[in-house]
Amino acid sequence: MEAVPAPVAALMARMTLREKIGQLMLYPAGEGPATGAGRPTALGEQVAAGAVGSIFGTKSFETVERFQRLALSTRLSIPLLFAEDVIHGHRTLFPLPIGLASTWDMDLVEACSAAAAAEAAAEGIHQAYAPMIDLCRDARWGRVAESPGEDPWLASRYAEAVVRGFQGEDPAAPGRLSACLKHFVGYGAAVGGRDYDAAEIALHTLHDDFLAPFAAGVAAGAQGIMAGFHALNGMPMHAHRALIEGWLRGEVGFEGVVVSDYTAIAELSPHGLGNQRARAVQALLAGVDLDMTDGDYAAVLPALAERGLEDPECGLSAPAEAIRAAIDAACARVLTVKHRLGLFEDPFKGARPGVQAALLPETRALARRAAAACAVLLENDGTLPLAPEQAGKVALIGPLGDDRTNMIGTWAVAGVPEAAISLREGLAAAGYDVACAEGCRLDQPDWIIDRLNFVPGTATLPTDDEATLAARAMALAEGADTAIFVLGEAKEHTGECASRLSITVPAAQVALFSTMAPTLRRAGKRVILLVLAGRPLALGDLPSMADATLYAWFAGTEMGSGIAELIAGRAEPAARLAMSLPAHPGQVPIHHGAAETGRPWPGKWQKFTTNYIDLDDAQHPARGRYPFGYGLSWTRFDVSPPRLDSDQLAGEAEAVARVTVTNAGDRPGTAVVQAYVHDPVARIQRPAQRLVGYRRLFLAPGTVGEAAFRLTRADLSYSLPQPDGSVSRVWDPGSFEIRTGLNARDTRSATLYWSA
Ligand code: NOJ
Repeated sequence: MEAVPAPVAALMARMTLREKIGQLMLYPAGEGPATGAGRPTALGEQVAAGAVGSIFGTKSFETVERFQRLALSTRLSIPLLFAEDVIHGHRTLFPLPIGLASTWDMDLVEACSAAAAAEAAAEGIHQAYAPMIDLCRDARWGRVAESPGEDPWLASRYAEAVVRGFQGEDPAAPGRLSACLKHFVGYGAAVGGRDYDAAEIALHTLHDDFLAPFAAGVAAGAQGIMAGFHALNGMPMHAHRALIEGWLRGEVGFEGVVVSDYTAIAELSPHGLGNQRARAVQALLAGVDLDMTDGDYAAVLPALAERGLEDPECGLSAPAEAIRAAIDAACARVLTVKHRLGLFEDPFKGARPGVQAALLPETRALARRAAAACAVLLENDGTLPLAPEQAGKVALIGPLGDDRTNMIGTWAVAGVPEAAISLREGLAAAGYDVACAEGCRLDQPDWIIDRLNFVPGTATLPTDDEATLAARAMALAEGADTAIFVLGEAKEHTGECASRLSITVPAAQVALFSTMAPTLRRAGKRVILLVLAGRPLALGDLPSMADATLYAWFAGTEMGSGIAELIAGRAEPAARLAMSLPAHPGQVPIHHGAAETGRPWPGKWQKFTTNYIDLDDAQHPARGRYPFGYGLSWTRFDVSPPRLDSDQLAGEAEAVARVTVTNAGDRPGTAVVQAYVHDPVARIQRPAQRLVGYRRLFLAPGTVGEAAFRLTRADLSYSLPQPDGSVSRVWDPGSFEIRTGLNARDTRSATLYWSA
């Protein structure tokens, strides 16, 4: 560990035990929504008593200023650190992280993160609880919305981009924030897709897949990490000393702070790790520095630091010196991060009252660009793009066609729904002659609507019955030339504590679309399907009933304008799925790298091979209907098989694979060329393939470009569990298949032989 900076060491020499413990305490400001049971605290009094180190969830600079001045008036004048859930924007919302990752444009991700940091920093925020980099392969889990998807390589690049965007060159600079990678680690593998539930992850998968984005985020300089709510392989993460102290600090060299999640230290008791004293000591010794909300550290550590704790029932023997040393280490880390953020020089980090930094025109323009860049074109018979003057009258059908609240997506704790642009507004502003009809209820029965409305205003219950709603929509569409159906989820179908059993478009919407779309097409109308969702949905036959299908996620404040630009062809669809869309809801978890079985799928159903008896022959049982990396363009690309500079390599060489891409259509477009590696023979079973790189090539019609991929042995190495429970990074000589293409499924390959 880097030595404690001299000013921090000098400060600590003057601190009492209680003041040190105070630095470990993190409380909600009490403004805005909480993500667990609310805990009333006389926060101001505690700050004035030097019993608080950090606050999260302030919603204005005035609140920050009030608390900070109190902290500065204490004996040691140690500034507070202010944090917030800046997940996909602050006042201006950008697309959901799953949408941002689907842009495969890390410059854009970085720019959106920098803009979010600027808005939040102007309100006195110092740390963002993002990026969330939990790998997700089970779309039932509602938090896939906040994630970069299923792939460790893409998630790693996303982690780096967000850290760069938040922190810049120096997180102390005005307008910058500390990043906080979360949720350490494996939370996305919650069994059954049920939020907060346990994860069981094989050791090699943990290291090669789930830990990889954290390693990348730490290497990029992230100053914070948040532990997950879940238990991993039997050990609740807030007590996981082996992974926090061992891997994170010991192996990867993380020097920032580890933050607990909301009341998660207290939750160690229902996890079965003992009473308040036991859980506080276990979390502290595991390396959790900041106690968010539950107050356990403050309640029990002062006494335990004097007398230690023996609790044989949970295998705990912690002498007083060990507890005091852990408090010192945690306090030093908290103060060091405050020091790195420059809070001792300027506790407001450049923020001043009265500065208008929210929803600036340039931030909104960026949000508009991002909204267009995240929508994945799944199907298109040539109907799109469709300029306003070609579209004729447009009927916009669906419960969210003229909605602003949902556009900003889940995790918009400081978002301004009134500032959002609905799809109708966006289309109208782009020049379309558009009118709306709800068509049906968003979901049924009513108790689901009630649950969605835990965040008020998410879903409204129409006053008319279904038949009236449907008839009105049909009348509107019959009088139009183009019908755009807006189907899918509400924003609160996803996010925290929003797992779903049936990851489909809700039944009422399917019924409406299945009745209307064929009739309209027979009548010569264009039918465009726009899917709004915070997760991959199994779309079934819906795309086949439309002329074009766009998967638009929830794209933020400028969703309406960004999608309108895309539909009009003023932007191009260059997004590619960051998570496979399943063929059927019962298929998850899935991901493109899932290893083959010993009885692989032979290309259609066959008894005694891996399959589902009720899945049609066209679908691979373990891959998505729309694979990872998939997305169409306005144009068509021809992609050559990979050519290897050399197919025989030895030792520390570099493999180079080149792919020629031709824009064979008549519009310019961006090809997102992807490279995967398959290792057919190794010491243990290897994934079906691993993404190892991608290139974005912007090509004019008829032009040709080349994507070159350079691989070293590190790209081919993997984690091998050892008999003593550790893992070693190994590499096996032999043949490797390099696969390239425009998605994870439709690849062409070349084989190289790499000797030792
Ligand atoms: C709970 C969530 O799991 C976490 O992601 C979030 O940062 C905290 N609550 C604070 O709101």
